[in-house]
This record gives sequence, structure tokens and C-alpha cells, in this order.
Amino acid sequence: MAFLEASNVSKVYHDKQNQEIVALSNFTLSVAEREFITIIGPSGCGKSSFLFLAAGLEPLTSGVLNFNGKPVKGPDPLSAMVFQEYLLFPWKTVRENIEFGPELRRIPKVHRRETSANLIKMVGLEGFENRYPNELSGGMQQRVSIARALANTPRLILMDEPFGALDALTRETLQIELLKIWQQAKCTVLFVTHSIPEAVYLADRVVVVSKRPGKIKEVVKIDLPRPREREMFTSPRFIEYERYLKNLILEEI
Ligand SMILES: Nc1ncnc2c1ncn2[C@@H]1O[C@H](COP(=O)(O)OP(=O)(O)O)[C@@H](O)[C@H]1O
Ligand SMILES: [Mg+2]
Repeated sequence: MAFLEASNVSKVYHDKQNQEIVALSNFTLSVAEREFITIIGPSGCGKSSFLFLAAGLEPLTSGVLNFNGKPVKGPDPLSAMVFQEYLLFPWKTVRENIEFGPELRRIPKVHRRETSANLIKMVGLEGFENRYPNELSGGMQQRVSIARALANTPRLILMDEPFGALDALTRETLQIELLKIWQQAKCTVLFVTHSIPEAVYLADRVVVVSKRPGKIKEVVKIDLPRPREREMFTSPRFIEYERYLKNLILEEI
């Protein structure tokens, strides 16, 4: 059975005039445990909406959405979301931000400290434990957000254009690190991006969403070996995937 299973999911919002906005319709996708899925599609096609539904932060309008064998009914401690805006608590230090979830779950302090120390190491923030978010670069803040999500040992991480606001070099570094973290944490990732090369580089499968109302246009399996080397970006196969996906997107805009 799939780890995350969306079957004919639809999501309808209402605007201020009470007009229906159909964000998703007939959205069907099956994700296996430990898969790395990237999602691309035109602006406004419902990518964020799908992550919100999967995270249990928004109810679906119709269809079936199961996570870990059960219908998604609300936020699940086994899933965590990472946004483009880092959404850290400005009055908390790096360590306190990361320990926030475990603290809510009443994990004893020694264990919280151990978890945060491991994660700080994993995301390369040693030495910055006692800094506040406004003392950190965007890339470092996003590392904190990732560590904060991981602090609850989620099995599903939902990432909504997490590297969208970062400069190219930081983005590249974080892509490499995210793949390492994903392998270490043995979790499943759903990652929305606007960048086709990023989508190809990270994914086991790239999900292409049609223009609104979003449904799956095509799912492209990325048959490139792991670990993924950066040299891959210039390999003929990589470029072919990129070209193919770009054409699919162009058909939608
Ligand atoms: N809370 C909301 N209320 C009303 N409309 C919304 C809401 N959230 C998203 N939408 C609309 O749903 C559509 C899909 O949005 P979204 O999922 O954010 O797309 P994407 O992330 O692909 O850009 C858009 O037309 C957007 O304006
Ligand atoms: Mg979005």
C-alpha cells in the first residue's frame, strides 16, 4: 500500500464574493515510503494546496487522501512542512527554535538537547546554536527550518519552494545537503519547486501538474544514479529530462 495516496482529490476554495475557485480536481498520486517526489507546474495550479491537504492543514473537498494507511484528518505528528519563508520564532535562538516541537511534546530536556545537537550538526550550524534568526543569512535560516521540521522525526516532509528565496550558490549547497539528510533520515519528501533542474536533480519522480484546476499531467521517473553528482547537470540525460519537462510546462502556460 502507498505511503501517501491521493485519489481523485479536489479542493475548492471560495473567494470574497463566494465564487468557487477550483484549485485541484481529480488529483491522483501514489507516493511510496522513502520516495523523493518533486512537484512542478504553473503558478496557481494548486501545488501549495496539495501540500496543505497532505499536511492536514486544509480539508479536502472531495476524493480520498490517505497517509500512512489512514485518511488525513488534521495535522499529523508524522508529517512536517517547510515553507519558503522560514517562519522561525524571532525571539528564540537556533537551538530553541529546533527544540520547540520536542518541547511541545514534553520531551525531557536532556533528550531535546541531544536531538537538537545532532540536527545542528546535520544541517551544518555548529557554533550558531545561540544566535537569533535575524543574525543569520537566508540560507542559514532555512537550515534551521529544516532542522526544526526534522526535530519531530517526521516520516513525511512537505517542502513548499523551500529554496526559492536563496541565491544560486546557497541553493546548490542546500540541495546537496537535503539529499544527504533525506538519505540519513530515511523519510519521504514532497518538494514543490519552480526550478526544473532542481526538480530533476532531487527527484525519484517529478510530478507535473496542469494549470488550474490542477491535476496530474504527467509523472516522470528520473532514472539517474544516486548519489547525484553535480556534474550530472551537464550530462545528456539530465539535459534531456530538463527539456522534456520544460516542454510539458510550456504546454500549460
Ligand atoms: N485560502 C484560499 N482561499 C481562496 N483561494 C485560494 C486559497 N489558497 C489558494 N487559493 C487559490 O487556489 C489556487 C491554487 O493556489 P496554490 O495552491 O497556492 O497554487 P500554487 O502553489 O501552485 O501556486 C489559486 O488560484 C489560489 O489563488
Ligand atoms: Mg505555491
